Amino acid sequence: METQQITSFHACSAPIAYKSCDQIVFIQIVAVAVRKSRFIISLSLLSQDENGVVLSLGAEAQRVIVSARPFRLDIVEGRDVLMSLNSRGLLAFEHLRMRKDTFSYKVTSTVANEDEKEDGMWEETFKSHTDSKPNGPSAISLDFSLPGVEHVYGIPEHADTLRLKTTDNGDPYRLYNLDVFQYELYNPMALYGAVPVMLAHSAQRTTGIFWLNAAETWVDISSNTAGKTVFGKMLDYVQGSSETPQTDVRWISESGIIDVFLMLGPTAKDVFAQYASLTGTQSFPPLTAVGYHQCRWNYNDQEDVKAVDAGFDEHDIPYDFIWLDIEHTDGKRYFTWDPHKFASPKEMLQGIMDKKRKMVAIVDPHIKVDNNYKIHNEIRSRGYYIKNKDGGDYEGWCWPGSAGYPDFTREDMRAWWASMFAYDQYEGTMENLYTWNDMNEPSVFNGPEVTMHKDAMHGAWEHRDLHNIYGFYVQMATAEGLVQRSGGVERPFVLTRAFFAGSQRYGAVWTGDNAAEWDHLKISIPMCLSLGLVGISFCGADVGGFFKSPSAELLVRWYQTGAYQPFFRAHAHLDTPRREPWLFGPENTALIREAVRQRYTLLPYWYQQFYHAHRTGEPIMRPLWVEYPQDPATFALDDEFLIGRDLLVHPVTEEGSRGVTAYLPGKDEVWFDVHTFQKHNGAQNLYIPVTMSSIPVFQRGGSIIPRKLRVRRSSSCMEHDPYTLFVALNPQRTAEGELYEDDGHTFNYEKKEFLHRRLSFVNNALSSVNLAPDATFTTQSWIERIVLLGARKPSRVSMKTADGPENQLEFDYDSSTSVLTLRKPGMNAGADWTVNFE
Ligand code: NOJ
Repeated sequence: METQQITSFHACSAPIAYKSCDQIVFIQIVAVAVRKSRFIISLSLLSQDENGVVLSLGAEAQRVIVSARPFRLDIVEGRDVLMSLNSRGLLAFEHLRMRKDTFSYKVTSTVANEDEKEDGMWEETFKSHTDSKPNGPSAISLDFSLPGVEHVYGIPEHADTLRLKTTDNGDPYRLYNLDVFQYELYNPMALYGAVPVMLAHSAQRTTGIFWLNAAETWVDISSNTAGKTVFGKMLDYVQGSSETPQTDVRWISESGIIDVFLMLGPTAKDVFAQYASLTGTQSFPPLTAVGYHQCRWNYNDQEDVKAVDAGFDEHDIPYDFIWLDIEHTDGKRYFTWDPHKFASPKEMLQGIMDKKRKMVAIVDPHIKVDNNYKIHNEIRSRGYYIKNKDGGDYEGWCWPGSAGYPDFTREDMRAWWASMFAYDQYEGTMENLYTWNDMNEPSVFNGPEVTMHKDAMHGAWEHRDLHNIYGFYVQMATAEGLVQRSGGVERPFVLTRAFFAGSQRYGAVWTGDNAAEWDHLKISIPMCLSLGLVGISFCGADVGGFFKSPSAELLVRWYQTGAYQPFFRAHAHLDTPRREPWLFGPENTALIREAVRQRYTLLPYWYQQFYHAHRTGEPIMRPLWVEYPQDPATFALDDEFLIGRDLLVHPVTEEGSRGVTAYLPGKDEVWFDVHTFQKHNGAQNLYIPVTMSSIPVFQRGGSIIPRKLRVRRSSSCMEHDPYTLFVALNPQRTAEGELYEDDGHTFNYEKKEFLHRRLSFVNNALSSVNLAPDATFTTQSWIERIVLLGARKPSRVSMKTADGPENQLEFDYDSSTSVLTLRKPGMNAGADWTVNFE
C-alpha cells in the first residue's frame, strides 16, 4: 500500500454564459482531476458553431459539449456521457430584486411584474416569525443527469440509508443546519450539518458533484426516468438508449450563485483526492483523541469527575477523555467555571493529567448578554455580534437566556475568539483541556425552526446566504485557538455538531441527539459512512443513545459498535439515569471492558488510518463498495463497513440476536475472523452465530495489522509498548501493511518526525522497510509477537536485522487453525528486518 500524496491537481474551469430572465447568468463549473505527476491541462476549443461549442478536457478523450439553445452541458469520455447538466431544463437563477417602494431608479420589467404581489414574495411568515426578504424571492437551481448510475450517496447530514433514495414521492433531501429535537429516522429532513457533495457510483465509475453553496439547499433525486433521449446532435449515437439506468438529480438553493465542482473520478479514491484538493483532508488528531471518551450531561462537580475517573481504574477499563457539559460553567458563561462545583479546575485537570488522561469542556457560540461578563462585553464593544435586520445586535434565546451570536464569518472575530483560548485568558485551563463546540447551527431556541432569522446580517451578507457554514467557522476559530495557545506546537481536538464542506480540517463531528433505541444504533453506521464519503472521517454517534435509557443489552451492543467507529464517545442526557460502564452488573461491565479493550489494542491501526486519511482524503470508516466497486452486492449495505481496506466489521445491532449474516466481499479474497482466526472465502454471505460477547470483525487475507496487546489506563500509557503484528495471508501467500508512529500529539510529523514502515510478506519472508528514509523519528517500541494467519508449518524460522547476525526464532504452530506464532522476535519497530520462514 502506498501512501499517495496529492502532488498536484489541475482544474479546468468553464464559465458558461446562459441567457435567462433578460440577464446573462454566469455559472462557474469546474471539473477537477488529480494526477500524481505535475502537469496542467487547460480547456481547449475543439469546435464551435451557432449551436454550441466542444471543448477538450485533455485527458482520456474527455470533452465538454455545450449546446446553446437550449443550454445544456455534457461531459463525455469517448462515447460515454458521464454527466449532463440542464438536460431537463431546470436551470433557474432568480436574481436579487429591490422592492419597488425601496428604491428610486428605474425598475426592470421583470421586477415590475404583476405576479410579484403574490403572497410570500417580499415577506414570509413562519409561525410567529417574519422573514423580511429584502431581496425578494431568490433561488438557484440546476439539474444533473447521470447516465448509467443507479446509486448515489453523500449529502449528509440525514438519518437515512447510505444509498440515497429517490425523492419522487416525498420531500427532497434538505440541507439546512438545524438543532432538531428527537430527530426521525429514515427521513430526508435536515439535521445539524450539511455537506453539499454527492457521489454517483456504478460498477464502471465513480463521480462526484460538489454544489458549493451555504444557503438552505434541497436535493431531489429520481431514477431511471423513461424517455431520456435528449442528447444533442453531437451525441446522436446514444439516442434511444432509454434502457440505460439513469439517475437525475436537481439541486436547489435559496440564494447565492451556481458554483459547481464536478469530480470525474474515475474511481472513488480519485473522487476523494479531487474533493480533498478543493476542501482539504481530515485533520490528523492527537492519538489520544482516537481512544475512548466518557461524557454525560453532566459530571456534576470535581468530586464526581474524580469518582468516575477512579471507577475506570477500579474496573480496569481504559479511557482517554472525560467530558464536561454546559453545567460546568458559571451560569452558561463559556470560558468560565462554576465557582462552587468546579472551584479549582487546575487541580482537577492536574489529577487527570497525572493519570495521563485528558478532559474536554464545552464552549458554545451563544454568548450570555450580561454586562458583567467579559466575553460579552468584548464582543459587543468590538462590534463582533451578528446584527439583526435593523442594525442592532441580534439576540436570541439559548442555554444562558438572552444571548448574542458572534459573527464567526469575520476573520477578525475568529482571531479574537482564538485568542480567548490562551491559558491566561481562559482561566483554569491547562494543556490537557480540549474543546467541544455544540449548538453551532446556530441553535436559537426562539428563532424560526430553532435557528437564526434568515434576515440577520453578517456585514453586507444576510444569514440566509451563509447559514450552513456558520458552524464550520466556529470550529475553525476554536481549533485555531487550541493551536495558538500551544505556540503552534500541539494538534488540537475540537468536536463540533454543525458542519459544512471542509469541516474535516478542524476536528471531529458527532451525529447529535440520538436516542437509546436499536434503530438509532443501526443508523449510526450509514450516518458515519455518508460523512466519511464527503471527507469527514472523524465521526461517531453518542454511545448508548442521548435521550432515554438503554437496556444493558443495547448499551453493550452500542459499545461494541462504537469501539469500531472513528469517534468513540459515550454520552447521555441530563435527565437519564447514570450509565457509567460498571453500573449494569459484572457481566455487562466485562463485556463493555472487552469492547473498549479491543479498541485500544487496535489503536496503532486506527492511528495509521487517520494519518492516511489526513494525507489522501480517503474515508477511514468506508462502505464496502469503495474497495469492491464492481460488486453490486456491496452497493447498499447499511449494516457493515470497512475500517481502511483491511478490517471488515459487522456489529450486532439487533435486539436478542443469535446470529448475523455478514457479506464478505471479493471472489479472490479470504477473510480471517480476528477472534477465532478461522478463514472464510470472499464473495459469500456468511452466517455467524453470536453471543453477547461477539463483535464480528474480519481481517482481509493479504494484510498486516499492527496492534498493541498490553492495554493500559489510557493511550498515552501505552506509548512505548511493544507491537504484535497480525499477518493474514491471502491465497497467493502474500500480505502487506504499514506501521506508522510519531510523538502522537505535535505537528512535528510535518517536519518528518515520524516513522513509517512498509511490512510485507512475500516469498516466505516477512520484512519491514522504511517508507520515509528521510524521516527522523525513533521509537522505543519493539515487536513482541508476530502472528501469521493462514500459515504453513515451517521447519525453521530465522530473523535478520540490518546490522545484526541471523538469529533462529522459536515458534508455535497450531495446525487446527493454521496459525503460526513467533514470540519475542524482539526487533525495534523502526528497524529494517527480515524474518525467513523455511
Ligand atoms: C445538545 C447536544 O447535542 C448535547 O450533546 C448536549 O449534551 C446538550 N446540548 C447540552 O449541552
